[in-house]
Amino acid sequence: MISTADVIASLRARDIENIGHGPLYRRLQTAIKAVIDDGILKVDDALPSERDLANELGISRVTVRNSMRALVEEGVLVQRHGAGTFVAPRVEQALSRLTSFTEDMITRGMNPGAVWIEKTLGHASPEEAMALNLSPGTEVTRLRRLRTANEKPMALEYAVVPRAFLPSPEEVEKSLYDALAKYGKKPERALQRLRAELFDGETAKILGVPDGSAALYIERRSFLANGTPVEFTRSYYRGDSYDFIAEMQVDAR
Ligand code: GLP
Repeated sequence: MISTADVIASLRARDIENIGHGPLYRRLQTAIKAVIDDGILKVDDALPSERDLANELGISRVTVRNSMRALVEEGVLVQRHGAGTFVAPRVEQALSRLTSFTEDMITRGMNPGAVWIEKTLGHASPEEAMALNLSPGTEVTRLRRLRTANEKPMALEYAVVPRAFLPSPEEVEKSLYDALAKYGKKPERALQRLRAELFDGETAKILGVPDGSAALYIERRSFLANGTPVEFTRSYYRGDSYDFIAEMQVDAR
């Protein structure tokens, strides 16, 4: 069970005044959700009291109350009479194993490969900083690769990792996760967003498919056990070659 001080520290680290958009209560709402998404506050964990949040964060109790109410309406938090406010059980339970491209291809009996397009050090863009919970401009390692299976192009993948976890892009030979594992920084959890897209001309050419072919866009933010983001990766998989399988189970509760 996480302590009140740790929750407050995690919220402070998210710079409530500058996260998200709109009035302060909306920003606090976004910050609380980020702390939950990053696995710092878990299902059934209690939130600090309205008074503690207001005092410690230097904002009014009305603002805190409005954020909490909005999160209860969204189903992110539940209020239990006389006991307080808790993180609600999640509807989407991620049951899949967190695996790398290399592991995925080996499991399918294929030989994973990569053609390097970019291997550089740079500074986090605002979008990357937000995804990785860094201050804009923090040093990051950038890896852009064409991923292949049995020499056939499968995906174009663009990974960004804080330099603090991967000092040099040269550390990555075949697998990013193997390189992170060497530093004890292999991700333990990830949030993944998938959507259908169409390949534009340049990406289609790299993957060897006609312009406008179906693509599966996958965005992964992965985290260390303590909830620190370690990877922000945007991938375009060939829609004609990649199936995404999700295992599901009825909630045992
Ligand atoms: C998958 C994920 C990426 C991750 C990669 C690591 O492709 N979509 O987010 O970076 O696996 O794979 P590897 O360790 O083979 O480089």
